[in-house]
Amino acid sequence: MAALEINGLRKAFGGVIALGGVDLSIPDDRITGVVGPNGSGKTTLFNVITGVYPPTGGSITWHGEDISGRAPHQIARKGLVRTFQQAMSFPGLPVKENVQIALERGGRQLRGGEPRWHSPEELLDFVGLGGRGNDDAGSMPFGNLRRLGVAVALAANPVLLLLDEPAAGLSDGEASMLADLIIKLPGMGIGVCLIDHHMTFMTALCQRLIVLDFGTKIADGTTQSVLTDPKVMEVYLGGEL
Ligand SMILES: Nc1ncnc2c1ncn2[C@@H]1O[C@H](COP(=O)(O)OP(=O)(O)OP(=O)(O)O)[C@@H](O)[C@H]1O
Ligand SMILES: [Mg+2]
Repeated sequence: MAALEINGLRKAFGGVIALGGVDLSIPDDRITGVVGPNGSGKTTLFNVITGVYPPTGGSITWHGEDISGRAPHQIARKGLVRTFQQAMSFPGLPVKENVQIALERGGRQLRGGEPRWHSPEELLDFVGLGGRGNDDAGSMPFGNLRRLGVAVALAANPVLLLLDEPAAGLSDGEASMLADLIIKLPGMGIGVCLIDHHMTFMTALCQRLIVLDFGTKIADGTTQSVLTDPKVMEVYLGGEL
């Protein structure tokens, strides 16, 4: 059984069916990609998994425990941590204070109680923001803001990190540097589930892709097989994923 098991997951917003009964298994020892056109339900999937919205139906099981409808902080403490599509930080506060707040808020306790990150600087170094600790988080370039978002999420000691469009708005060079960071995570015991439209970024990072369209899963398999799947090609009509 995979770490995260989702069965028949449904989410409706009034008459809009954002998720129409999705079955998924997501492991916590590798990088899994989720793609799909705008409005296909990708962010809603993350929102429902992490307790931002309760599901309308179906179940979400994390390491054998049903977590459907739990509060976001309870889910984060169990090691399921997400970043937001809109990069969020405390603007007006220095970068290192953003990370300090995240470290103090804590998240999942590691065995033995020993923290993985001993200081904001250590975490900032890891995400490539070493020396930027005194910058104002509100006036950082986009690429750095994304890295700060990853640092804040890592402060919670995720077992599975859900990243919602981390490469959006980044140049190819910045996306490639972010990929170099994300690819290290499974080796540190952090699984990743990644949503993005940037396909060079996705194919560099994901051996497996899941494709959503109108709130249903239309493909799930190796990146190569999914990208040549006629159903997937039809949805995108040769356009960008
Ligand atoms: N809070 C909400 N209230 C009402 N409708 C919502 C809400 N959140 C999402 N939706 C609707 O659910 C559907 C799926 O939206 P979602 O944001 O999950 O798509 P997405 O795949 O993440 O798209 P994108 O690639 O543009 O980020 C859309 O029709 C959207 O308008
Ligand atoms: Mg989205």
